[in-house]
Amino acid sequence: MLSIEEQKRRAAETAVEYIENGMTLGLGTGSTVEYALQQIAEKVKQGMQLSGVPTSQRTEQRARELGIPLVPEPETVTRIHLTIDGADEADEQCNLIKGGGGALTREKIVASMSERVIIIVDSSKLKPSLGGFPVPVEVLQFGWKAAAEAVQQLGATRVDLRMAGDKPFVTDNGHWILDCQFDTFPDVGRIAQVFNTIPAVVENGIFYELCDLLIVAQPDGSVREIFAGVDSD
Ligand code: A5P
Repeated sequence: MLSIEEQKRRAAETAVEYIENGMTLGLGTGSTVEYALQQIAEKVKQGMQLSGVPTSQRTEQRARELGIPLVPEPETVTRIHLTIDGADEADEQCNLIKGGGGALTREKIVASMSERVIIIVDSSKLKPSLGGFPVPVEVLQFGWKAAAEAVQQLGATRVDLRMAGDKPFVTDNGHWILDCQFDTFPDVGRIAQVFNTIPAVVENGIFYELCDLLIVAQPDGSVREIFAGVDSD
């Protein structure tokens, strides 16, 4: 039986097989993506021409340490061939909750400009429906309390300002995060849009119809590939 860590590595191994020479890659954030970064670095060492667009300062630093070339001005990028990222929760329709690491806004921007988005998860992350994991919502510091109240009006059972020790957690963009617990989402696509109509909300961690291929590593060592719109299981 594969441990959760071994499953993360296995999912990453499957994803990097989709990388082709010359690609601009969106580099996600998190402990699962760490395995993908190590394997991408191997491909670079073997001579593959790749350039990465990191979704966080943490990933940027890891990519530099591993020798993965980065796009010189990532803020000007408009098109990415392939993004490999993790998720906190995924459903069978390839919708996701992301942002447990606080990088959701850049992750969503990078996903939205990607021709293909591959999400890699261990088996514990795949759920019949989204909602177990609190939705991270990035908010401006000014107005965060009003935003929290507005999220509660949307039906959240609990809204917590994310903390780092005794201070609010600050994102790479200088903002704060609200972790918003819901029991269920009657319409996950709609709520993803509604969040962003709240003043002070920068972005939310529901990734609706943004993932093309969900790679789920199983405890028995097999890998399930779920293509958006098609269940290939
Ligand atoms: C980062 O903000 C998140 O969206 C991560 O992609 C997500 O939290 C998955 O992280 P792990 O692979 O560490 O579980």
